[in-house]
Amino acid sequence: MKQTKWWKHSVVYQIYPRSFQDSNGDGIGDIPGIISRLDYLRELGIDVIWLSPVYESPQDDNGYDISDYYGIYHEFGSMADMEELIAQAEKRGIRIVMDMVVNHSSDEHAWFLEARKDKNSRYRDYYIWREGEKGQLPNETKASFGGPAWEWDEEAGAYYFHLFSKKQPDLNWENEAMRRDIYRMMRWWLDKGLGGFRLDVIDNIGKVPDAMIRENGPKLHDYIREMSREAFQKYDIVTVGETWGANVDNAKLYSNPDGSELSMIFQFEHICASHSEEYGKWKQEKKDFVRLKKIFTDWQKALHGCGWNSLFWDNHDLPRAVSAFGNDGIYRVESAKALATFLHGMQGTPYIYEGEELGMTNIRLEDLAQVRDIEARNIYEELKEKGWNHQEIMEAINMTGRDNARTPMQWDDTENAGFTAGTPWIGVNPNYREINAAAEMADENSVFHYYKKLIALRKSAEWGDVLAEGTYEPYLEEDGDIFFYVRSLEGKRLLVLGNFSDRERTVELPFGIRKTVLTNYPEIRMEGNTVVIRPYEAVMAEPT
Ligand code: GLC
Ligand code: CA
Repeated sequence: MKQTKWWKHSVVYQIYPRSFQDSNGDGIGDIPGIISRLDYLRELGIDVIWLSPVYESPQDDNGYDISDYYGIYHEFGSMADMEELIAQAEKRGIRIVMDMVVNHSSDEHAWFLEARKDKNSRYRDYYIWREGEKGQLPNETKASFGGPAWEWDEEAGAYYFHLFSKKQPDLNWENEAMRRDIYRMMRWWLDKGLGGFRLDVIDNIGKVPDAMIRENGPKLHDYIREMSREAFQKYDIVTVGETWGANVDNAKLYSNPDGSELSMIFQFEHICASHSEEYGKWKQEKKDFVRLKKIFTDWQKALHGCGWNSLFWDNHDLPRAVSAFGNDGIYRVESAKALATFLHGMQGTPYIYEGEELGMTNIRLEDLAQVRDIEARNIYEELKEKGWNHQEIMEAINMTGRDNARTPMQWDDTENAGFTAGTPWIGVNPNYREINAAAEMADENSVFHYYKKLIALRKSAEWGDVLAEGTYEPYLEEDGDIFFYVRSLEGKRLLVLGNFSDRERTVELPFGIRKTVLTNYPEIRMEGNTVVIRPYEAVMAEPT
C-alpha cells in the first residue's frame, strides 16, 4: 500500500468504558474488562481504540468532568491497569486513543477548588469569573445541558462560566499558564505510548463569553496550532477534534495535511440535518436522504487532497445508527449493513461505536427513573415546563437520548448479556437474547462479519489505496432512496451502491458490474445496466 499516514488506513473503534465489560461484578464496566475483550477487537480487525474518559472524575457527566488528569477513576481501575491496556493492545497491533477533555474540568479539580477559594490564587484565572451581583447574570448564554451558562459561586463571590453542567466549569484558554499545564499533561500521557487523542468539544476553547461566542472564536486556531506544536507534533499520533461548529472551510484548517493542527475532526452536519430550529435534536423532521447524501458529498469533495474526513454514524452521544438512519425492525440486519457500506466506502477514517458492529438498537424507556444521562434528565424538566407531557418527552428521549448508546455491550445471551455478574448501572436492552456478539460471531451472515469484511477491505492490497486515496463521484444525487458513488484511483474503480429505503427499486446504472466485492443479499439482480435493488440492499463492486 501507498506510504501515507498510518491513520489513513485505520479503522477506529470507540469504547464507552462504563458500558463495555465489567470485570468485578459491581455493574460498571472497567479497564480490566476491556483488556479481557481485546481479542474480540483483534478478531474484528480494528486498529485503534478511542477510549471515552477514564480519568479521575466525580462522574457528573460520566467522566467528561475530570478532577485529575493524571489519575484513573477508581471504579475503572488503576494507572497500572491503564498501562497494561496500552501494552496488551499494542501486542495485538491496536493503539489507544484517549479522550481529552480540556474545554472544561470538573468543579472538583484542584485548580477550581483553589480558584474559588482564593481570588489571588494563580489558578483563579484558569477559569472564567464575572464579579457582580448575585441574581444578575452577566449575560443570557445558555448551558448545553440546560439552564444558564453562569453559576453564582458563594465561596468565590462571583459567577463562573460553564458551557455544560455546572459541575463542568470552563477553562480559560486566554491564560497561558493554564495552556502550558495542559500541554505538559498531554505530553505526559503521550509518553506512555498512546496512539493519540480525541479532543472533546475542542471548537469551544476559543470562546468569548462576553460576546456570547461559543464555537469558532477568533483565537481558536491559534490555540490548536500551539497545542499541536507543543504537544502533538513530537509524536506519531492521530488527533481528532470534536467540532459541532465545523464547516467545510474551517475543516481544511483543522485537518491541514501539513500537520499544523489536527489529523481530522468530527463534524456533525449529517447528524444535525434533521434537527428542528426550536427544539434541536429533541424534535426532528423526517430524514431527507437527498440532503443527507449531499452533505456527505460536499465533505468528500471539499477535503479531497487538502484535508481528511472522519466517518461516523453514531457515538456515545447519539442514538444507535440502525435506529436513527436505518430500520431496526424487520430490516435491522440489512439496514445496518447498508449504512456501514455507505460510510466505509468513503474517503476518511471510519469510526465504529461499540455494538454498532452488531447492529445494536435504541432502547425503550418508560419512565424517568430508568434514565441515567444528565442531559436527558435536565431536558425532561425543561420540556415539561414548556408544556410537553410525559409521553411526549419519553418519546423524544427514546428517539435521540444518549442512553440509547450507553446500554451495556451485548456479548452473549446469558443474564445481563455477559456484561456483568452484578446489577448493571444502566438497564440492558432486552433484545440481547437475539442481538449479541457470540451469536453474530457464529453466523457468517451477521452484521459482525460484514463489518469485519469492510475493515479488511480498507487494508487489502486490492482496495486499500482506492478507499484511502481515490476520488469520489456521486450519481443519482436526486434519488431519495438510492445511494450510488464511485471511488477511483489510477484507473481502478470501486462502485458503492445501495438502497436506504424499505421498498424495492429498479435503477439504470451508467455501467455494469464486472466483479462483486461485497453484498448484503445473497446475489445481485442485474441485467445489463439495470439493477433491482431490494430494501436496504447494498453492494460494493468493480464496474465495467
Ligand atoms: C462532548 C462529549 C459529551 C460530553 C460533552 C461535555 O460532546 O462527547 O459526552 O457530555 O462533550 O464534555
Ligand atoms: Ca467493574
